[in-house]
Amino acid sequence: MAFDYIVEQLSARKSLSRYRQRVCLQPTVKDNASQHFAMHDTKIIVAGKEYINFSSNDYLGLNNHPQINKAMQEGIDKFGLCSSSSSLVTGYHYAHQALEEKICQWLNKPKCLLFSSGFAANVAFFQTLGQSTGKESKHKSCHFFLDKLSHASMLDGAYSSNAKVKRFAHNNTTQLSQLLSQSDSKNKLIASEGIFSMDGDQAHLKGLTDTAKTHNAWLYLDDAHSIGVIGKEGQGSVSLLNDTKSSDTNIIMATFGKAIATSGAFLACDENLHDYLINFARHYIYSTAISPALAWATIKSIELIQQEQWRRDKITELSMLLRQLLDNSINIISSASSIHAIIIGDEQKALAVSKQLRKQGIWLTAIRPPTVKIGSSRLRVTLCTSHNTNDIKHLARSLNEALI
Ligand SMILES: Cc1ncc(COP(=O)(O)O)c(C=O)c1O
Repeated sequence: MAFDYIVEQLSARKSLSRYRQRVCLQPTVKDNASQHFAMHDTKIIVAGKEYINFSSNDYLGLNNHPQINKAMQEGIDKFGLCSSSSSLVTGYHYAHQALEEKICQWLNKPKCLLFSSGFAANVAFFQTLGQSTGKESKHKSCHFFLDKLSHASMLDGAYSSNAKVKRFAHNNTTQLSQLLSQSDSKNKLIASEGIFSMDGDQAHLKGLTDTAKTHNAWLYLDDAHSIGVIGKEGQGSVSLLNDTKSSDTNIIMATFGKAIATSGAFLACDENLHDYLINFARHYIYSTAISPALAWATIKSIELIQQEQWRRDKITELSMLLRQLLDNSINIISSASSIHAIIIGDEQKALAVSKQLRKQGIWLTAIRPPTVKIGSSRLRVTLCTSHNTNDIKHLARSLNEALI
């Protein structure tokens, strides 16, 4: 039969306890009077049962914020929901320009470009920068050096480009330096996540910037899980990269679909790279621009993120509480972010614990290979501003019962 491998690969996934399925979240009633349905707080309803959600990336609790919703409606009224074209035709609206300017001011970067998702932005960047074949001269060849734990979209972009790709052991700048020393390319780029998505730990930014400077390399940071959550006014990694000279060559990508609580992504960089991507990045050129109404709503979300430090403080408080309450024998990765990874190891055990927690009204998805390395299946707990101390106490008690 044609395409036999579909069924074969699905059954292999099942036999390894790595098969994945979606769960459908049902709407919760927000306002009985108007019968207006919406998600709220940290509760989700799956198959008629309510759970506290510890697997959401709405880190700052901004999803469904009335001011962001109002800005979305205002954006629809002003610009329409759809951009109706790609950015280079007639899809680039005032809302997009205003959002780009907002991000440039926020992060103190010269230029910024919007993409329909973080995945698209990463693939676009690596494919486009690495498009030169380097056949003409080694001055045109390009080498990418990625942290081993970099997101799938960075790896896909890098490996589908013409660049040479090396991966260095997680946060290991000594190995990175060795690899850079062996490179004969004039065009070197180091790439890392700011906060790592599945471990919640932070990149060694000082080590990375120093190494980049020593080897005359550019630095690319995927700040998907840092933006909004860390740094002054939630600027993410840039607030920790305070050497303005080296920051000129630093490129920051972040998605709007996590702490910013809208959808899409941005890439902030210098003027030349910005123009280069507009002219050569196929994901940018041949794709409909993001919704202008969404761009308008995103500006409001960023304003709230800048003004409301208490949202970040609350994550820190809840994280400290969880760590205090968890039994010492539980293997939890140290983190200054919203993400707290509890390593279980075996896929089946991770699934069993996740199932047991559901009986206690807790939703915590088990993360398994190939998302994480074999033998490191885990529960990736995300603590959000909208959780309360009782939620954390209930989670810690349930985890202690399930794991010790
Ligand atoms: C580190 C990282 N980069 C990029 C992405 C992709 O972003 P988006 O969901 O906007 O496509 C994700 C999302 O899971 C991520 O965790």
